Amino acid sequence: MYPLRRNRRLRANEAIRSLVRETIISPNDFLVPLFVVEGQNVKEEIASMPNYFRYSLDLLEKEVKELWSMGLKSVLLFVKVPDNLKDNQGKEAINPNGLMQRAIQTVKNTCPEMLVMTDVAFDPYSAYGHDGIVQDGMILNDESVNLLAEMSVSHAQAGADFVAPSDMMDGRILAIREALEDEGFTETGLMSYSAKYASAFYGPFRDALDSAPVDMKNVPKDKNTYQMDFGNRIEAIRETKMDIDEGADIVMIKPGLCYLDIVREIKNAVDVPVAVYQVSGEYAMLKAASEKGWLNHDAVMMEQITAIKRAGADVIASYFAKDVVRFLNK
Ligand code: PBG
Repeated sequence: MYPLRRNRRLRANEAIRSLVRETIISPNDFLVPLFVVEGQNVKEEIASMPNYFRYSLDLLEKEVKELWSMGLKSVLLFVKVPDNLKDNQGKEAINPNGLMQRAIQTVKNTCPEMLVMTDVAFDPYSAYGHDGIVQDGMILNDESVNLLAEMSVSHAQAGADFVAPSDMMDGRILAIREALEDEGFTETGLMSYSAKYASAFYGPFRDALDSAPVDMKNVPKDKNTYQMDFGNRIEAIRETKMDIDEGADIVMIKPGLCYLDIVREIKNAVDVPVAVYQVSGEYAMLKAASEKGWLNHDAVMMEQITAIKRAGADVIASYFAKDVVRFLNK
């Protein structure tokens, strides 16, 4: 008597394991989020995101060159907007000379081949910390969509290759696509955060951009009226299919780890590339646990990234991108 199949033959050593491994991570998988601030010579560490920084435009140049030299060829830009420029209309969001618009130009001038994606949402510009215009304790949908379309055109004018709306207003993909086409930006891509859950894992990101909802009368305390309820699965498929019908070139699920069931379902249901955002809280958890010596940083990082790709991610937005490439080159 012997076992009919000896599966361990395929696990006997690293050579055979790597020969039959189904999921391989490479620098090509990554979209690198970058946080930009005003000023000169600024490289500030984000308190709740160890070893992750906000850069002023001059140091952004250096960072972008380093990413390119590591084989990281796509970035996703976010800006931290000074308080005095925040309002409830989005004036600064569409300023042709605003920080985002200058950041796009900076990356493109430094490294023309770098793919530049921009986060399109009102929250870093909002005096109330919301992704839309606030009125009487509510987030206005259609007025916010008009602003998002204007923002997208403004990013395209500055040279963005892709715009990535992360707001979860209804109808924004169609409105953005139409606005881009009307202005002649037929080649500007659209990556939709299509299944974006109302998640407590965004906490460190809101520290990074100082963009959390403010605690004020008549301002919703959370984003639950527009981001998705984390109890829902079928809704994620519907949202995603709607975004594809409205013109999304790439769809995204966010956060990552807790939502890999959704990633696989969407991957099986659609025929466009699927992106996954491993968000700030996921990064913070591993950094904290490894600082305490409770988890092996690189081992857990690679396990998580591989799991995200195995679940169906064609694109991974991750704060670990540089750490992963350094690990791969070791
Ligand atoms: C802005 C936006 C957020 C994130 C990406 N774009 C925060 C939010 O929706 O509150 C979160 C990213 C992260 O946590 O890493 N709408």
